[in-house]
Formats: sequence, C-alpha cells, structure tokens
Amino acid sequence: MTNDMPEPPSHLTFYHTVEFAPGRRTAGWPVIVPIVEMISDAMGRLDFRGRRVLDIGCRDGALAFQAERLGAAAVIGIDVDLPAENIAFLSLALRSKARFERHNLYGLKPESFGLFDIVLLPGVLYHLRYPFWGLRLVRDLLVDGGTLLVETATFADANALPLLLCPTGADSPYEPTSCTFFNIKGFTETARSLGFAVVDQRSLMNLPPYDSAASGPLPIDRTVFTCTRDHRLDDAKLMDYWDGQVDMPGLPPWTALPR
Ligand SMILES: C[S@@+](CC[C@H](N)C(=O)[O-])C[C@H]1O[C@@H](n2cnc3c(N)ncnc32)[C@H](O)[C@@H]1O
Repeated sequence: MTNDMPEPPSHLTFYHTVEFAPGRRTAGWPVIVPIVEMISDAMGRLDFRGRRVLDIGCRDGALAFQAERLGAAAVIGIDVDLPAENIAFLSLALRSKARFERHNLYGLKPESFGLFDIVLLPGVLYHLRYPFWGLRLVRDLLVDGGTLLVETATFADANALPLLLCPTGADSPYEPTSCTFFNIKGFTETARSLGFAVVDQRSLMNLPPYDSAASGPLPIDRTVFTCTRDHRLDDAKLMDYWDGQVDMPGLPPWTALPR
C-alpha cells in the first residue's frame, strides 16, 4: 500500500470499504461495515497460512484481500456479478496476487479451480433460491477437515425447530433477491446433513426471538458460522437419495414401487 495511489475513478461505486492507501478508503456501504468486521474477526480465529482459499460472492474482494493478508498461499474470488474495475483498482493498490473471476456458484465443480482448505461464503446464502444445492456444491470443493465460513442473514427465533423462512417479493425483510433466512438451528442441522460440523457461531445483534403475538418487522440478525467438512458425517445412501439416485438396494420400500 503506497501513498502515491490516485483516488478510484469517480464512476466506480464500491460495496466494500477498503483501505487502498494509508488512511484512505473506498466509499463503501456504511451499513455493511460491522458485518464485514464480524466476518474478519471470524477469519482471524482461523489459520490461513499456506492455505488455498475460495471467496464465493466476493464483490469488491475485501475478504479475499483479508485472506491474503492472513497468509493464504492462493486466493480465488468469484462473483456472478464481478465488479471488474473495482477489483482491478484494489488489486493494484494492495499489490494483491489474488485471482478473481466472474463465475456462478451453481457452476462450481472440483475441476473448476481444484479443492480448497477454506471456502468463504459471506453474504450470499440468503440470496440463494436453491440454498441446499448451493451448500451441496460447496461441500465438494473442500478437502476433508477443510473449513467453510458462512455469513448470512438469520431469522432470530427460539430455535425449537430447524426452520427456513423463505419469503418472496415484498414479503422479504430485505429486498426480493433475499429469500432464504435459516434460523440458527435450521442452518446448523442443514450443514450437518451435508457433512459440515458447525464448530463456532456468532450473531451480530443477538436479537430477541420472534414473537408471533407481537407486531413489527421480522427479527433478522446476521450470523457467522464456522463449519468443518467432516466425511465421517456423510450418510452416502441418504446423500445419493437426495441427489436423485434412487435405484439402489437398501432404500425405503416406496422407491421400489413401479413408476
Ligand atoms: C451481499 S453481497 C456480499 C459480498 C461479500 N461476500 C461480503 O460478504 O461482503 C452478495 C454477493 O454475492 C453475489 N452472488 C449472488 N448470487 C451468486 C451466485 N449464484 N454465484 C456467485 N455470486 C453470487 C452477488 O453478485 C454479490 O456480489
């Protein structure tokens, strides 16, 4: 980072607030600053040294750059709507070696970029209409024992049941692209069923749980989940069934009914 870096071109609008020269920052969205800080804090509790890292939904790349600062050996950032000029400006300013590509999460395969020790999935899950499938694809990108760091908007309730609130249109507590709000139990059990153990979880606001008798907006918090990929959790038969592989011996009797 050097002082002689010019200001970003005036036509660029930034999502992330990133220090690009000593004491000078991009004009990102103020509302997401505490969320990015929470994610950075969770990243600080992991060991990035020498690791291969994938940042899914990287936007301007703040968290990919943070992974690099924490010692990652290789960092790839992907986003379906990659702001290429923002990334080019920040990569130059920070002398980053991270690689960024426009890519859809749903198109990610192990062959796309290889396997990773750490996958970051911040601020994306609540935008996914197919969240289970997204997590299922991410599972196959991690080495056994690897870490998935998910940050997402969570529905604050008493966690008696594993729930997914899935509002559409004007019912979304954010805006219409935001349609997937797990409660903490819902995310934790979903992750486990897909072979991830949630080893740490922290919420930003720790809101009081939803009270159906009360009026007012739905209590939507932000939560960061640190998950370990653990092959011992895999129930291969069940996973195959969920993937649509039903012609297998030993599955429930209805799968043998004539179709
Ligand atoms: C709310 S921003 C979060 C940015 C950053 N990860 C963070 O937490 O600060 C969500 C980002 O996810 C990207 N995104 C949404 N759906 C995606 C998909 N299917 N594949 C890749 N990126 C996606 C959006 O383009 C956007 O840049």
